[in-house]
Amino acid sequence: GAVAAAMPQTSLYRDCRWYSVSHLSVKERIDKKRSAALLGGGQQRIDAQHKKGKLTARERVELLLDPESFVESDMFVEHRCSDFGMEQDRNKFAGDSVVTGHGRINGRLVYVFSQDFTVFGGSLSGAHAQKICKIMDQAMMVGAPVIGLNDSGGARIQEGVESLAGYADIFLRNVMASGVVPQISLIMGPCAGGAVYSPALTDFTFMVKDTSYLFITGPDVVKSVTNEDVTQEELGGAKTHTTISGVAHRAFEDDVEALLNMREFFNFLPLSNRDPAPIRECHDSSNRLVHSLDTIVPFETTKAYDMLDIIHAIVDESDFFEIMPNYAKKTSWWDSPPKVASGCLDINSSVKGARFVRFCDAFNIPIITFVDVPGFLPGTAQEYGGIIRHGAKLLYAFAEATVPKITIITRKAYGGAYDVMSSKHLRGDMNYAWPTAEVAVMGAKGAVQIIFRGKENQAEAEAEYVEKFANPFPAAVRGFVDDIIEPATTRKKICRDLEVLASKKQMNPWKKHANIPL
Ligand code: HXC
Repeated sequence: GAVAAAMPQTSLYRDCRWYSVSHLSVKERIDKKRSAALLGGGQQRIDAQHKKGKLTARERVELLLDPESFVESDMFVEHRCSDFGMEQDRNKFAGDSVVTGHGRINGRLVYVFSQDFTVFGGSLSGAHAQKICKIMDQAMMVGAPVIGLNDSGGARIQEGVESLAGYADIFLRNVMASGVVPQISLIMGPCAGGAVYSPALTDFTFMVKDTSYLFITGPDVVKSVTNEDVTQEELGGAKTHTTISGVAHRAFEDDVEALLNMREFFNFLPLSNRDPAPIRECHDSSNRLVHSLDTIVPFETTKAYDMLDIIHAIVDESDFFEIMPNYAKKTSWWDSPPKVASGCLDINSSVKGARFVRFCDAFNIPIITFVDVPGFLPGTAQEYGGIIRHGAKLLYAFAEATVPKITIITRKAYGGAYDVMSSKHLRGDMNYAWPTAEVAVMGAKGAVQIIFRGKENQAEAEAEYVEKFANPFPAAVRGFVDDIIEPATTRKKICRDLEVLASKKQMNPWKKHANIPL
């Protein structure tokens, strides 16, 4: 102090004094804050979190990322609220209610935020939002995906508009990042009110069964407005969103299963729109013939089979991560399975497919389409629901996609479905038909009823129609399919085509942005 007093009052002098006199105590304060941050809202609340079968924000980050790879930012950030007693020390938590930073998944860079329910129920303060925005901005700059682990009571009630502003700051970044870096939301607790819109803006939303829910307003508000009695689980649980609403893409049993699946899913994603799709080492030969496919399509054209069997048999080492397995079951990652409702396209399957195709196209992922579709699902429910508008999304998505597109018609490609499902006319690069393929305006019975209405010899006409159209030749002679292939050779052909198409370059005309029918 005496030495310091004799020194001139420059900033250099002040820095010297800071180091020489307070060095140890500052270090102690740093350590203390860091340890406090590691404990979040304290042991009692951590225990409460565990009792609910949930991991803490930090435990989740540890499980998601490669060991020792997490680099945390903003551990010292605190909320800035001074109302309702929030300014008191006991209401300040180092890092506030979210853990943020970057790390690696199987060696590949990813940015992560993990909301900490033990601090004010993971509610979103201005500071919490700022932490999320900071890592999102950096992820955009370096070109790496963002994974959000959501567990939050929504807007920090004490902060009012500051919190609402924070949400909007995040939403804006979600929109700006859309199509630039993959964004994934994992819902691991409550996510209510306007908070739901951030996950909704991301590319994929996954949930944990029984402990997570998403809704705009909770059961109490629902009761007071619509007089409906509904539980949290029924209103916005994992089953609701993965089977009825289509808000979430898949549900997992618990935190651990969900996080391990995120690691697996991450392997399929490129880091950004400037990155090529990841190519992984595998021991599955690209020349492998799949003989089981030669007999997989039943002889009777109305008999069902499982498209998933075809996919599993063809992809590398049967390694297939299905998106939305329980929603619009007519369309799985990505094909039209004849096992469900004959594989008709309806509103839900069109939207599911369209969004998936657009994700792939935005991130340089080639699209392989297996087609067995007897058409769009008829009926008032579909027409009143706007099947025209929704079906158009799928058509639009395939048409605008410029990534490599390979299409295999396994059986039916009838009517609009023939056009929509990545046909040659929508710039399909390689289009194949199996010998069992049938390409026509509609099935024989319906067709004959229309063109030979009231005439005799309907059976004869139907036989003629089948003879003409229930085979791949009408499409093949016109070059609308590039080849008729033996099913067993499908994997081999796809592998060869992907290699050829790896350097594909195709541009759409310049536009500010397109106007996909919403
Ligand atoms: C401040 C909150 C909070 C919030 C919870 N807490 N939500 N603090 N703001 N939004 C605090 C609680 O006071 C409690 O503090 C701790 O977090 C744990 O909460 P509990 O209620 O004890 O937990 P639980 O029983 O598990 O219930 C969780 C919950 C409930 C269902 C999420 O807390 C709840 O209903 N919270 C309010 C949800 C809500 O209406 N949010 C606003 C939505 S509107 P202590 O100190 O006791 O541990 C919105 C608008 C966003 O978000 C708009 C964006 C456009």
